[in-house]
Amino acid sequence: MVTIVKLGGSVLTDKTRLFSFQEAVASRLAAEIRQAGGIPPGDVPVIVYGTGTFGKAYARHYSRPERSTADWRIFQLTTAAIRRLGEEVSRVLHDEGVPHCLIPANALFCQRQGRLGWHGPGPLARLLECGVAPVLCGDVLAEERGCFRIVSSDDIIPFLSEVMPVGPCVFVTDVDGVLDRHGALIAEIGQADAPLASVGGQDDITGAMDAKVVAARLAARNGAAAVIVNGRVPGRLRAALRGGPVVGTRVTGPRAVAPVTGGPRQDTPATAGSQSAPFPVTTDALS
Ligand SMILES: Nc1ncnc2c1ncn2[C@@H]1O[C@H](COP(=O)(O)OP(=O)(O)OP(=O)(O)O)[C@@H](O)[C@H]1O
Ligand SMILES: [Mg+2]
Repeated sequence: MVTIVKLGGSVLTDKTRLFSFQEAVASRLAAEIRQAGGIPPGDVPVIVYGTGTFGKAYARHYSRPERSTADWRIFQLTTAAIRRLGEEVSRVLHDEGVPHCLIPANALFCQRQGRLGWHGPGPLARLLECGVAPVLCGDVLAEERGCFRIVSSDDIIPFLSEVMPVGPCVFVTDVDGVLDRHGALIAEIGQADAPLASVGGQDDITGAMDAKVVAARLAARNGAAAVIVNGRVPGRLRAALRGGPVVGTRVTGPRAVAPVTGGPRQDTPATAGSQSAPFPVTTDALS
């Protein structure tokens, strides 16, 4: 079972200043990943970082809702900025003792008409086997000649939950979780709950909290234990990774169907399929 940590660009960077890395926060989050256990020996998480002001600095150059550009220079500028943030994240992970390896999205993923797929599990599987945390990111994928399209860090997570068995899946962001329209924290969101009414961030090209809830729901449907927590508050990421009680929003999968007396036990498709499936399950989700 793989653990995923999504480090939001909202906590890694300062939303009010371009290209500003929040080193102290990032270092603490890296330490919490290490303290959560498993390093070394044993399991390491897949870490996915959001791009905050590094990636979103170029957002206006991408068409909406396609989130694409025909200009390779914009592609290049965006991926270079995202890589710079990756180097910063890598430095703090190193300093805090988390073995890891950065993987640019184009090395692993591909997209056709905006549908995410990958070139296969190879690098991810090998790094995890070796106890090295793969570090992925929201990025821009070269889709075809003259088409470069954003893939958000949140969108990568449901994809991973389709192709590997994901257990804990922690979305670290800059608010306590999903807030209702009065600003109160929603402790749990199920599959059937009404779609979220955004309370800010509507102009965010990668969808802010709405997109995160959609991603968390899809991951939960595939069996992941999804939770959204505030990375600005010390200890919450660590608590979420340890699976204990934590302030945040849990996003739950479909409820298991109660056993029918006298008949065979019925599981939901999600629990029946993904939990027991070996990794890799799918080598090319585009096929
Ligand atoms: N109902 C809501 N509850 C909580 N936050 C909300 C809600 N609706 C919109 N938001 C906004 O969503 C933001 C979090 O999403 P945002 O995309 O900014 O962070 P992130 O995903 O951690 O960063 P990145 O996209 O760079 O990885 C909050 O800061 C808030 O402004
Ligand atoms: Mg976001």
